[in-house]
Amino acid sequence: MAEFKEISPDAPAGAKLLNWVDNRFPASKLYNEHMGEYYAPKNFNFWYVFGSLALLILVIQIVTGIFLTMHYKPDAALAFGSVEYIMRDVPWGWLIRYMHSTGASAFFIVVYLHMFRGLMYGSYRKPRELIWIFGCAIFLALMAEAFMGYLLPWGQMSYWGAQVIVNLFAAIPFIGPDLALLIRGDFVVGDATLNRFFAFHVIAVPLVLLGLVVAHLIALHEVGSNNPDGVEIKAHKDAKGNPLDGIPFHPYYTVHDIFAVSVFLMIFTAVIFFAPEAGGYFLEYNNFIPADSLKTPLHIAPVWYFTPFYSMLRAITGEMMYALVACVAAAAAFTVLKGRLGAFLKAAIALVALLLVASMLVIDAKFWGVVVMGGAVIILFFLPWLDNSEVKSIRYRPDWHKYLYAVFVINFIVLGYLGIKPPSPVNERVSQIGTLFYFGFFFLMPWWSRLGTFKPVPDRVTFAAH
Ligand code: HEM
Repeated sequence: MAEFKEISPDAPAGAKLLNWVDNRFPASKLYNEHMGEYYAPKNFNFWYVFGSLALLILVIQIVTGIFLTMHYKPDAALAFGSVEYIMRDVPWGWLIRYMHSTGASAFFIVVYLHMFRGLMYGSYRKPRELIWIFGCAIFLALMAEAFMGYLLPWGQMSYWGAQVIVNLFAAIPFIGPDLALLIRGDFVVGDATLNRFFAFHVIAVPLVLLGLVVAHLIALHEVGSNNPDGVEIKAHKDAKGNPLDGIPFHPYYTVHDIFAVSVFLMIFTAVIFFAPEAGGYFLEYNNFIPADSLKTPLHIAPVWYFTPFYSMLRAITGEMMYALVACVAAAAAFTVLKGRLGAFLKAAIALVALLLVASMLVIDAKFWGVVVMGGAVIILFFLPWLDNSEVKSIRYRPDWHKYLYAVFVINFIVLGYLGIKPPSPVNERVSQIGTLFYFGFFFLMPWWSRLGTFKPVPDRVTFAAH
C-alpha cells in the first residue's frame, strides 16, 4: 500500500479533496502518467489526430446508442416502425438516429485513415506490434458491430444483406450449414436473428470493443508513440529522464486534438444536417423500405466500408480459382527450389501445397471467396512480421515505395467502388486483378520491402516550430 500523504491544514479545499482522493485512488498518478507527464514526440502531424477522433466517435456511438435503445423495439414486427417513430415522433430522435448512422460511417473513415498512418510510418514495427494487433482486433470487432447494427432497422437492405452474409458461412465445409443456422437462430433471417443481433450489437460487442481499446491504449503508453520520422525518442533523454524530442501530452496534444475535434465536428454536423444519407452511401435508399422476405431487391450491396472486402469475395469465381491454384503452385515451387531449407521441410511444404491445391479444386469457389474475404483482414495482423524494410517511416524509404503505397490505396478504393456496383464481366475482371494486387502487396512484402536505396534516418526527429 502506498504511504498516506498528509497535507497542510491551511491548503485550499480543492487540494485537500484531491489529496483525500489520491490517498484512496491513484487519480493524480494516472493523470500524470497518461497526460501531464506523458511525453509524446514533438513532431506529430495531422495524421496523429485520428486516434483521438476514433475515441470521440466511440463515445458518440455509445451515448447515441443508449438513447436509441430507449425507443427501439427488437421485434421483427415492430423494429422498422420503431425506427420511423424515433425519426418522426420522439423529440430530437431524428438527430440521435442520424448521429448514430453517420457516426458509423465516420468511424470507418477515421479508422481507415488511422490504420493508413500506421502503415506509412511503420507504427506496427517493434516494439509496437501489440498496439497494432489490438488495433486489428478492434477493426474486426468494429466490422461485426456495424454488420449487426445494420440489421436492426429491419429494412430491405438490412434483411437481404444479413441473408447474403450469413449464407456465406453455410459455404464452409462440414460445419457450414449448422453454423449459419446457429447465427440466424432460424432457417431464414427472422425474429430470432434480430433479437440475437440486438443483444450482440448493444452489449456484447461494445464490451469487447471497449476492452480492446483500453488494451490498445495501455500498450501504446507502455512503449510510447511512434512519429512521422520513425525515430525512437526514448534514445535521447534529459537529466530528468524525459525524452529531449518529447513534449507533455497536456497541454500540447490536448490542444492539437481539440482543434481536430472542432474541424471534425464541423464536417460531421454538416453531413448530419444537410446530407445524412450521403447520397445513399451512409444510409442506403432500399433500407427505407420495410424488410420483405418475399421480395429480393434487384441489387444487394453492403454499406461502403465493407465493399472492398465484398469485392474480393465476389472476385473469387471458378475461373479465378485457377489463377489462385497457379499462385499457390508457383509459391510452393519457388520455396522448394530456391529456399535454403532442409529436405524434410521442403517435403512438408510440397505436401501442404498439394493438399491445398487439391482442396481448392474440389471445394466450391464460394467457400474460397469467404476465405479470401476473411484473409484480407486477417493478413493485417501479420504486418509487423511481413515488413523487412530497414527503416520504419515512409519518409526514408525509396521513392518507389511511396508510389506502391499510393497504388495500394487506389486499388483499395477501386475495390470498394466495384463492391457497390452490380456485377458485370468487366467489374469482375478488375476486382480479380485488384484482389491479386492486394494479397500480392502483403505476401511479397518480405521481399520488396528490403529493395531499393533507403535514405539516412536522422538521429533525432525533424521538427520546425511553426
Ligand atoms: C476504436 C478504434 C480505435 C481507437 C479509439 C484507437 C485509439 C488510438 C489512440 C488514441 C492512439 C494514439 C493517438 C494516435 O496515434 O493517433 C492510437 C495509436 C495507434 N493505433 Fe489506434 N485506435 C483504434 C483503432 C486502431 C486500428 C484499427 C489500428 C490498426 C489496425 C490501430 C493502430 C494503432 C497504432 C499502430 C498506433 C500507434 C501509432 C503511432 O504511435 O505511430 N488503431 N490509437
